[in-house]
Formats: sequence, structure tokens, C-alpha cells
Amino acid sequence: MKNTVAIVLAAGKGTRMKSETPKVLHKILGKPIISYVLDALKCAGITDIVTVAGHGSHLLKEVVKGSKVVVQKELLGSGDAVKTARKALAGYSGDVLVICGDTPLIRSATIRSIIETHKSSGASLTILTAKLKNPTGYGRILRDDSGAVLKIVEEENASIYEEAVNEVNVGTYCFKAKDLFEALGEVKPDGKKKEFFLTDTIAILRKDAKPIEAVEVYDAGEMIGINSRRDLAEAAQTMKARILDEIMAGGVTIEDPASTTIYEGVTIGPGSVIRPNTFIESDVEIGRGCRIGPFTRIRPHVRIADNVEVGNFVELVRTKVGSGTKVKHHTYLGDTTVGRHVNIGAGTITANYDGKVKSKTVIEDKAFIGVGAILIAPVRVGKLAVVGAGCVVPKNHDVPKGATVVGVPARLFKKGRVRR
Ligand code: UD1
Ligand code: MG
Repeated sequence: MKNTVAIVLAAGKGTRMKSETPKVLHKILGKPIISYVLDALKCAGITDIVTVAGHGSHLLKEVVKGSKVVVQKELLGSGDAVKTARKALAGYSGDVLVICGDTPLIRSATIRSIIETHKSSGASLTILTAKLKNPTGYGRILRDDSGAVLKIVEEENASIYEEAVNEVNVGTYCFKAKDLFEALGEVKPDGKKKEFFLTDTIAILRKDAKPIEAVEVYDAGEMIGINSRRDLAEAAQTMKARILDEIMAGGVTIEDPASTTIYEGVTIGPGSVIRPNTFIESDVEIGRGCRIGPFTRIRPHVRIADNVEVGNFVELVRTKVGSGTKVKHHTYLGDTTVGRHVNIGAGTITANYDGKVKSKTVIEDKAFIGVGAILIAPVRVGKLAVVGAGCVVPKNHDVPKGATVVGVPARLFKKGRVRR
């Protein structure tokens, strides 16, 4: 979006979260709330982004790399936050998209559509609105008889008639920069909260006969602002459903979406089946024709090839699994590379951490690991090798190709290939 800069409001402490962590750094499916907003902006083509930080700004700066950060010293309200951002926009006279950093479900298509309406109508301000069954907690949009927007009234200042209005302010606005800063200069502190409300600019622009447009968000589920832990849980459910829908549309069966959690960006090949109570975190790729679950946990940095079975109470992290391999019960594989057509027996554990460093395990093609084996990393199990049930393979005691080892600690039982 050429000639549009975005200001992301994220200074708020999030009092209602009852937390020392800045509100927008709380996570939804492993990703900070504000990162969803920044990604949606980038995806809509906005590259010039100013984030207003306040409470915990040093923590926020780490997360919003790639966006300019300005610090609002005193939290005097959303209007004051936008004024703080002005210094980062010196000399800029195009359009300014203002968005709340606590609305993670907003889609890039929605951002694009408010900007397009704003540019094509030539309005001074375009606001994003939503009609909600329960508008509690949001600013209400008040219109005149012709339908034109008059003002936004915050809930704490609304009369009982205004409270009944179900069209609300999403917290995303597109302004002409000049009109925005002129109107902000006229905003007075709110009587009750003593804050400068950005939303008061609407009535000021209207008084000055500036044209105001409103765009209604297509899916009201996009607009939830996270103000409490309950909102956080609700947003996570919505995000989860979106991710699962996309994966199912790609030809994957998810047997029980209600008990399945998959983080954003996970890819799963068509024909795979995800069984109930499965939890898959970020940076995971799963091939075609796999069966995952029930009760599987796949942590970050995992690559699973085609036709792999990963069963109940299996945990994988930083691990590669080759095609046709079976890891079916009660197993932990960490920092491990498993070849093709390997059988990992029930209860196999890779001991990848010695209290100081994490080390790697390699299990080559067609190896057979007996039940209850412990492989102490770093260690390698050769192609077609067999590790007996209950065997403990010490670190650096590689099992040669085709050999069978048994016992605690592992000793050579048979050299060479013992299996078909
Ligand atoms: C705000 C809107 C409300 C809208 C709702 C949508 C105002 C006055 N009200 O209410 O009309 O329906 O969002 O979710 O804007 N912030 C700062 N500095 C401050 C205060 C707030 O940066 O001094 C930031 C917050 O971090 C947050 C955003 O501004 O991202 C909105 O503040 P919040 O306190 O969440 O306002 P709401 O009560 O949700
Ligand atoms: Mg809010």
C-alpha cells in the first residue's frame, strides 16, 4: 500500500490482564498478539510501521523488530499515543492507518479494504466498524438519520440508549495525516478517565465538515480486542479454527478439531490424518499420508516425511523422521535424525541433554529400536542395526551397520545384518 504508514498502538499496560508482561506480548498459539497485527499489516503491503510502546517498551522492542518504535512516556490515552508517533512521521502528508496492537484476528484483506475505500472516497477519515450481538466493552458508533457517522462514544460515557447501539469501533482507522493531527490538537482529556481518546477526533472532524467513511468488517470475529485473559482464550479458539480450516481444505483429515491444536505456519500434506488430542507447534512440516496421534505432541523444528506414523504419547522436537517410519507409542525423540522405514519401539527415549549441552542422535534407515531403549546422545545407530529391548546405548558408542546390541550398557550381541 503505497503512501500509507501505519501506527500501531501498543503502549497500554493491559490492567485487565493482571500481568507484568505488556498486554500485546501475551501469546496466542505461541505467537505474541502484536506480531499477528504486524504480519497482517505487512501482508497488506504496508512496510512503514511505527509502534507506540509504553509499559515494558524494552521487551516490546525485541519483538517488533522491523518497525520503528516510539515510547509514550505517560499513558494518557490512545489519542496521546498517536500524537507521540507524530515525531517519527516528520514531514509525512499521506494516509495514516491507526490500528490497535491488541486486535490480533484482523485480516490483511480487511486492512486492504479500509485503505482502498479511504483512497477511492477521498474521505478525511475512514473507520472500521462491526455489528456485534454483544457490544459490551467497545466504543459505539453513532450515526445521524442519513446514516452518516456522527461520533464514537466510549462505553463508560454512553447513555443507556447509546449503549444499546450494536455497531462498534474496531479500533482501526485510516486518516489523512494533516486532518488527524489537526483534530488531535483539539481533543480534550476525557472527563472520567482523564485520557485523550483518539475516538474523539471523529466528532471534531464532523464539526469541521470533513468527510467520514465507515467500512463494516465482513467477519465480526476479526475485531476482538484483547483486554482480559478471557478475550485471550477466545481469540486463541478463533485463530485455531482458522488454521484447522485451512489445513482441512488442503486435504488433511482432522478427526476431532475441538481437541487438536496446530500453530500457524505448520504444513501437512494431503491424505494425512490428525487424530484427536494432538498438539503441533510452530515450524513443523509433515508430509503426505501420515497418521499423527492420538495424544501426540510435536514441538518446533520438526520435519516428518511421507507415510510416517506417530502415535500416542510421543513427543518430538528438533527432529527429522524419514518416510515409512513408525514411532507409535510413548517415545521422546529430541535433536534426532531418523532414516526411512525405521521402527522405533514403545518407550524409546533419546537422552539428548546432559545438563549442559544438547547432543544429536542419528538412527539410520531400516534400523529397529526395541521397546524401552535409551539412546544417550551423541550416538548413531547404523543402517539395519537392532537395539534390543531395554538396552541403554552409551554416548559415542555407535551401533555399527546391521549389528545387534543388547543389555545395559549395550554390548555387541551379533555383528552384521541380523534382519531380513
Ligand atoms: C479502544 C477504543 C474503542 C474500541 C476498542 C477496540 C479508544 C478510546 N477506545 O478501547 O472505541 O472499541 O479499542 O478494541 O481508543 N494505548 C496506548 N496508549 C495509551 C492507551 C492505550 O498505546 O495511553 C493503546 C493500547 O495499548 C491498545 C489501544 O491503544 O492497543 C487501545 O487501548 P485500550 O485500552 O485497549 O482501549 P479499549 O478500551 O479497548
Ligand atoms: Mg483494547
